Amino acid sequence: MITHNTILGLKDDLLRERGVVKNVGFVPTMGALHEGHLELMRRAKAENEILVVSIFVNPIQFNNKEDLAKYPRVLDTDSQLLESVGCDYLFAPSEMEMYPEPDNINYDFGLMGEVMEGAFRPGHFNGVAIVVRKLFEIVEPQRAYFGEKDFQQLAVIQQLVKMFNLPVEIVSCAIVRENDGLAMSSRNMRLTPEERAVAPKIHLILQKAVKLRNVLSPEELRRWTYDQLEAVEEFNIDYVEIADSELLQPIQHWNDCPESILFVALFLGKVRLIDNMRIF
Ligand code: PAF
Repeated sequence: MITHNTILGLKDDLLRERGVVKNVGFVPTMGALHEGHLELMRRAKAENEILVVSIFVNPIQFNNKEDLAKYPRVLDTDSQLLESVGCDYLFAPSEMEMYPEPDNINYDFGLMGEVMEGAFRPGHFNGVAIVVRKLFEIVEPQRAYFGEKDFQQLAVIQQLVKMFNLPVEIVSCAIVRENDGLAMSSRNMRLTPEERAVAPKIHLILQKAVKLRNVLSPEELRRWTYDQLEAVEEFNIDYVEIADSELLQPIQHWNDCPESILFVALFLGKVRLIDNMRIF
């Protein structure tokens, strides 16, 4: 694996590669890699000739200074994991390299960008869109891989690609869970052992909730899920929402859309966790 910290260095190598290989698969990350990331990378490696991974803790997508400061940074361990999945190029730029000047673009994702994470983390998706578009321009991948745990992020990135006709295929990959059901996330490593023991209740409650689809209306099911989560003393809920899988708007009736998803965001101690589950 070759590591580049500069845009020019990476672009130079990829230009040479493109003379011989057809497909570049790309997995953008903020590091602190876990099995969920590695699954994206294995798939990207299997489906493309070259695998490029970026590690960049993107300051402009954090609306909470403490979250940014505490975001785990473990580049040495990450590099070893990347070697183990056959990553060809790691791009690990500095903040100066990515933002020599402040980037003031304002993307408008319409209603999709205003609900859930958009409402609770103002500016977050704009920061994500700015960095992802920059990374796409640097790496020029044929395919880019994103996990469904950040379902709304995935939808926003798909929208970004549509809005600007970006020449990249977005591949969405299923949530990877720990054995006890907790959705894998880099933030999980900030949970205390006590919090970590409580965290799988999110998945348990989501599992029970989706089974009630035939007996409750969307609003009743949303309320039921909220009440169950609220009953767990350690949870501090940001939102529970049932929304359609395309525009992510709350639904009133099950027949309103072909596919609906139950979304949850909550704090466990100082760590914010999100999860979601399709409702069949
Ligand atoms: O999902 C993430 O890790 C980040 O939001 C991403 C897509 C790498 C952009 O910084």
